[in-house]
Amino acid sequence: MRTISLLFVLFIRVYYVFGVPEIVSITDDTVVSEGDNVVFNCTVKDIGAHSLEWKKTNLESIDDSEVLLALRGTLNFADPRYTVNIFPKGDGVVIYRFSIKKIHASDMGYYICSINVSQKEKITSSVALSVKHSPVILDIRPFHVAEGQELEAVCEAYGYPIPTISWKRENDVIMPGGGRVLNGNTLMITKAHRLDGGNYFCIADNNIGEPVVRIVRINVEFAPVISVPCPKVFQAEGYLTKLECKVKGYPSVSISWYKSGVQLQGGEKYEILTTDNSYESTNSVLTISQVCNKDYGDYFCNATNKLGHVEARLNLWKWIVPIPF
Ligand SMILES: *[C@@H]1O[C@H](CO)[C@@H](O)[C@H](O)[C@H]1NC(C)=O
Ligand SMILES: *[C@@H]1O[C@H](CO)[C@@H](O)[C@H](O)[C@H]1NC(C)=O
Ligand SMILES: *[C@@H]1O[C@H](CO)[C@@H](O)[C@H](O)[C@H]1NC(C)=O
Repeated sequence: MRTISLLFVLFIRVYYVFGVPEIVSITDDTVVSEGDNVVFNCTVKDIGAHSLEWKKTNLESIDDSEVLLALRGTLNFADPRYTVNIFPKGDGVVIYRFSIKKIHASDMGYYICSINVSQKEKITSSVALSVKHSPVILDIRPFHVAEGQELEAVCEAYGYPIPTISWKRENDVIMPGGGRVLNGNTLMITKAHRLDGGNYFCIADNNIGEPVVRIVRINVEFAPVISVPCPKVFQAEGYLTKLECKVKGYPSVSISWYKSGVQLQGGEKYEILTTDNSYESTNSVLTISQVCNKDYGDYFCNATNKLGHVEARLNLWKWIVPIPF
């Protein structure tokens, strides 16, 4: 009789130690707002001598980037917002609880309750935590495209719920594909025109707070074009005169002035004032302080950028009466 009861006790103990643990249930996937508190229960049966771990991974990438949050009843790192508890319920059932206070958007992820049942095997169950938060637009750099070429500009944002993305232009200018708004995250320009260059807005909206807007610069590169407001300039000897070139081109255009094949330099006789009016428009004014007889004739204004160069001819004519500036 004694032997039997001893065997029975042994049997129970052996069974208890080698019994297969089971995760009976885990809290349902949860959606909360920032600042809320959450409680995850992982109900386990027959855990025996095994240990339970709480781990976390990202919602987007369920890769190997698991972070250990707690082992049994002990937190792996001290975050005052985390609490871990164990509640024995009898009959081999234990509730392991992981709670988080004052939820941040960064708490989003899968919370995994995991037990190593052997060297190689583990059983897991997970709960997805989604945190409602306004969109965040991923870093987006200016785009460059040569005129006539194709451009695909993609704007990406995350947030929960998943934001919708649209594109607009500064000052409500018509979009390259027509209309004032383009829905979707991809702005496609099939054949870029210089007028397609400028500031665009990528707008991400998920109805949590205000839509989030980001300025996206699109630069269309084109060879310089010169316009000369006044190709024929008249002045009397001994007086000051100015020759002007207006240039459009992108990227940065450099302008130089020539007379009789010689490049003119700023100094006593000449002053060259070149100013950028906008990212694609540059003005250059050549001032001749005191016109003398050999200054009459042709002048060339030469504009160059990486896509090419162009020159324009201006002519200084002798005049009897001084023209005021
Ligand atoms: C977690 O378990 C406790 C104790 O059994 C219970 O009071 C609570 O409602 C449970 N919470 C969730 C989210 O299941
Ligand atoms: C469970 O197994 C994993 C992978 O083999 C190991 O990294 C981890 O430390 C184990 N956990 C426990 C509590 O033994
Ligand atoms: C204008 O500048 C370009 C590039 O520097 C040069 O190749 C070209 O010869 C210049 N034109 C004149 C008229 O000097």
